[in-house]
Amino acid sequence: MKPRKIVILGGTGFVGSHMVPRLHADGHQITVLSRNRELNLGLTVLPRVRVENADVYNLAHLTRKVAGAGAVINLVGILNERGSDGSGFRKAHVELTETVVAACKAAGVPRLLQMSALRAGEGASHYLRTRFDAESRVRDSRLDWTLFRPSVIFGPGDGLFFRFASLLRVAPVLPLARADAKFAPVYVGDVAEAFARALAHPHSVGHSYELFGPRVISLREIVQWTAQLIGKRRWVIGLPDVLGKIQARVGEWLPGKPISRDNFKSLLIDSVGDKDGLGELGIVSTPMEMIVPAMLSADERQGTLARYREQHRPV
Ligand SMILES: NC(=O)c1ccc[n+]([C@@H]2O[C@H](COP(=O)([O-])OP(=O)(O)OC[C@H]3O[C@@H](n4cnc5c(N)ncnc54)[C@H](OP(=O)(O)O)[C@@H]3O)[C@@H](O)[C@H]2O)c1
Repeated sequence: MKPRKIVILGGTGFVGSHMVPRLHADGHQITVLSRNRELNLGLTVLPRVRVENADVYNLAHLTRKVAGAGAVINLVGILNERGSDGSGFRKAHVELTETVVAACKAAGVPRLLQMSALRAGEGASHYLRTRFDAESRVRDSRLDWTLFRPSVIFGPGDGLFFRFASLLRVAPVLPLARADAKFAPVYVGDVAEAFARALAHPHSVGHSYELFGPRVISLREIVQWTAQLIGKRRWVIGLPDVLGKIQARVGEWLPGKPISRDNFKSLLIDSVGDKDGLGELGIVSTPMEMIVPAMLSADERQGTLARYREQHRPV
């Protein structure tokens, strides 16, 4: 495959921090568009990676930014919006995707790889519904598109094991809404590999790939396993839905919105797949057991060292 110029939206986050180095290794020249370049310069240590400020919602501006690219990758996604009427999800998922499609067409960029989510379109959450609407815009675009629908993604820096590990370090009891919701967590390295292979293989054009790992696990089991791995004896309580909904409502008012009513609705749909998209791309999915224990113990070691440095800082 000939290396190409690739423009990535949403490439400064967790998935992007793994995907950009993987695509860079294939020789591609990569421009990551960000709302705040100065906060996201880490990736620029790679010689063929640029991070540029961009107003990705402005069609004329985005058209200029993607001009000359062989492919655009859209990784932008949000789990929470500012209000609760769905307009934030609609803007970040559907309106942005419409702008990306229009910019690709205006600039003559033929190829679009779009991140979505497993079970998009199912249930009543704004998150899953707007994901599906965004997929429809891509399918109808007449570009050479590929869609990716992952379950929850794990790996260094994730918002799953790391988030629960930091909660479990301070909370002796963890009340959990939708504790029996099921996931098939997929390794971020496999997700990055899937995008790299799709870019390399024209047969991925017009395909949608479900990305999930080999093990189905409940939210309760994820939290209990995390507690065990960080060496904490914790009490994880599955809340009945009536209390879970109250927790979700209260969570909307807490800093960082740890849970919202829309998250609760998403959790009513099990994030498990039917068709092994990684397998279709020739990738053997990585089990959590191979990655998570070492990843969390490295994090524990870093935390211990940071505390030690803090205690022994010269005054
Ligand atoms: N992580 C998972 O478990 C998981 C599972 C399924 C699907 N996904 C999807 O995979 C994609 C990447 O996930 P991630 O975990 O890497 O997300 P992330 O860490 O939150 O990164 C997403 C990036 O998108 C940009 N962004 C965020 N909100 C935006 C907004 N309102 N408008 C424009 N840009 C915005 C940000 O870049 P700047 O601040 O630099 O602009 C951010 O770095 C998302 O679409 C996500 O929904 C993730």
